[in-house]
Amino acid sequence: MNGDVRAVRGFNDILPPASEHWQIVERIAADVLGRAGYGEIRLPLVESTALFARSIGVSTDIVEKEMYTFEDRNGDSLSLRPEGTASCVRAGINHGLFNGSQQRLWYRGPMFRHERPQKGRYRQFHQIGAEAFGIPGADVEAELIALSAELWRRLGLERMTLKINSLGSPGDRARYREDLVEYLKRHGQDLDEDSRRRLSQNPMRILDSKVEQTRAILEDAPRIADYLDAEHASHFAELCNRLDALGIGYVKDPFLVRGLDYYTGTVFEWVTDALGAQDAVCSGGRYDGLVEQLGGRPTPAVGWALGMERLILLAEACGKLPDAEQPHAYFVALGAAAECKAMSLARGLRSQVPSLRLVLNMGSGSMKAQLRRANRAGAGLALIMGDAEIEQRRVTVKFLQEERDQQLLDLDDLAEFLRSQVAEYKGTAGA
Ligand code: HAM
Repeated sequence: MNGDVRAVRGFNDILPPASEHWQIVERIAADVLGRAGYGEIRLPLVESTALFARSIGVSTDIVEKEMYTFEDRNGDSLSLRPEGTASCVRAGINHGLFNGSQQRLWYRGPMFRHERPQKGRYRQFHQIGAEAFGIPGADVEAELIALSAELWRRLGLERMTLKINSLGSPGDRARYREDLVEYLKRHGQDLDEDSRRRLSQNPMRILDSKVEQTRAILEDAPRIADYLDAEHASHFAELCNRLDALGIGYVKDPFLVRGLDYYTGTVFEWVTDALGAQDAVCSGGRYDGLVEQLGGRPTPAVGWALGMERLILLAEACGKLPDAEQPHAYFVALGAAAECKAMSLARGLRSQVPSLRLVLNMGSGSMKAQLRRANRAGAGLALIMGDAEIEQRRVTVKFLQEERDQQLLDLDDLAEFLRSQVAEYKGTAGA
């Protein structure tokens, strides 16, 4: 193919029938979140660069080296959003949502990070995120986690582990950071290069390191749990109690830190062992300081975002997503008069028979050619109409997926017949 029109590396097309899996996940997420009182917020893909620098943090990987940043024609520095939380907070401040009341919001859509593409990691990827504002307690953290668990249940996902940790208050973190740096400096010469660089800029990220030798050094490093003040320690214990009460299993991971600076207190991540290196499917935590930091009223906040690509890879690996839905029927029309009749009949049938999937042949063709298209579409049956059928006000029904004689049906009985076919199909699909 001509190289000029290739997609950009790390940017993917999502074609049917795979896109049906996306629709299923989005439908279930909208249902689960919507029924729990989360309203959908639709946010722009582009924001001022300063928004992300001030929220995610200037010395994070995301802001330092992963953003798609450009100058627009006015000379303003803009960036494609690398995540949704910052935009959600910005929108809430702009629209006066943080006036002391509670807000529960969710969003979906593409995010952009210039990372090295590999399985489960892309430069344009998609998140579904949920954020709750104005609620300081562990109750809403448990709710958010339970809603994510409900999503996994509805999608039939297995091999998911919930990791939780508390990063404490900014003061707790500063004390911890100091001791961690001191400890790691003593092992400076044995740390990997990346971690040595982080030591001065973002030492907590070293806890995230995947390098074996660094992980060994971390075994004896100070742990954040020992630095939490009484309030954060009891908040974290309360979250654990609530998860216990819900029967949601978790692992306390003292090394769970996040790659964004805005977190305070609780952080969590759902990971899987089914996807290789890119194991985080859904991540989040509390960010009580962010609204104020961006110019709003002090507002406690917590949320998560899941990566759609990873979620779908996992759902497909678990084999629980239904196959793409085939048309119930394919309308074969022979001759101009039959084509016109078929088109108007199809319009009526689609409105009379809810969830009927009816594909109309286009581009004419012989009976054989049209039936070949019907088979290729995976249709359950062909509705055949030629001059003779028009005259008799009938249609010939040919069964494509079962050994059954074809039959002639009165047009008046067609809607009822298709309704029973749709019901039967639903029965076999177990929907
Ligand atoms: P994050 O951990 O940067 O957090 O991203 C959340 C999820 O997005 C990850 O767990 C992962 O599934 C997916 N993800 C991230 N980067 C990529 C990538 N390059 N390719 C594919 N999937 C990716 C946030 O974005 C926070 N805003 C989450 C949050 C919401 N915290 C509080 N509220």
